[in-house]
Amino acid sequence: MFIDTHAHLHFHNLYSQLDDVIQRAAENGIDKIICVGIDIESTKRCIAIVEKYPIVFAAAGIHPHNSKDAPEDFLDEIGKLVNHPKVVAIGETGLDFYRDLSPRPIQIDVFTRQLQLAKKLDLPVIVHNRNADREILNVVESVGHEKGVVHCFSSDVEMAKKVLELGFKISFTGSITFGNKAVMSVIKIVPLEDIMLETDCPFLAPVPKRGKLNEPANLPHIAARIAEIKSESVEKVAAITTENATNFFNLPG
Ligand code: NI
Repeated sequence: MFIDTHAHLHFHNLYSQLDDVIQRAAENGIDKIICVGIDIESTKRCIAIVEKYPIVFAAAGIHPHNSKDAPEDFLDEIGKLVNHPKVVAIGETGLDFYRDLSPRPIQIDVFTRQLQLAKKLDLPVIVHNRNADREILNVVESVGHEKGVVHCFSSDVEMAKKVLELGFKISFTGSITFGNKAVMSVIKIVPLEDIMLETDCPFLAPVPKRGKLNEPANLPHIAARIAEIKSESVEKVAAITTENATNFFNLPG
């Protein structure tokens, strides 16, 4: 049994074949999926999805790429959306100083305010970080919210240690199957109790599906890679990461 903690089922290439995508997920042992919004519209679509499929839950947020287009009342909007009983987190939020699709001061402002809201509502937050280690730590420390996950972790061992010290979890995508040595060192030092699994579909399909459209059914390939690096059984990786995600998102058992 697995939980895919980060899936963008709202994107057309998955949304257009969702019955099949959900069925393949179930056939591959995925018993819950968190559908993660990237702006107000996609979050609303995630909520339509959770109302149709019992195994799907949602997160409501503004992705750093979209922060420049966030409506002025975006925080009120997110505040309303998280009232839905199947919305379990705020995200995807964070900072992306690699692609810089929104001006950095706007990214920092929109991230900070979502983190403050998550703290106020005592909700977990899903954080995107690319090339912004220092600023991510600054914002998280200044807000003082400890219930978070850095998703698609791609930073170094030092950053992983700092993230864990803040009380955050770390989640890994199919990118860990691409043969990058640095991420192997990170996986070795992060305790299984602090790890969650995610596909980040439709992006980042793991080997042996690399380059194809990704979907939750591919999650076991990521678990297998973590099991291999940590010399543990896939069953143990599945059990512990599922327990972590269940507790973190406060999902029904
Ligand atoms: Ni994402």
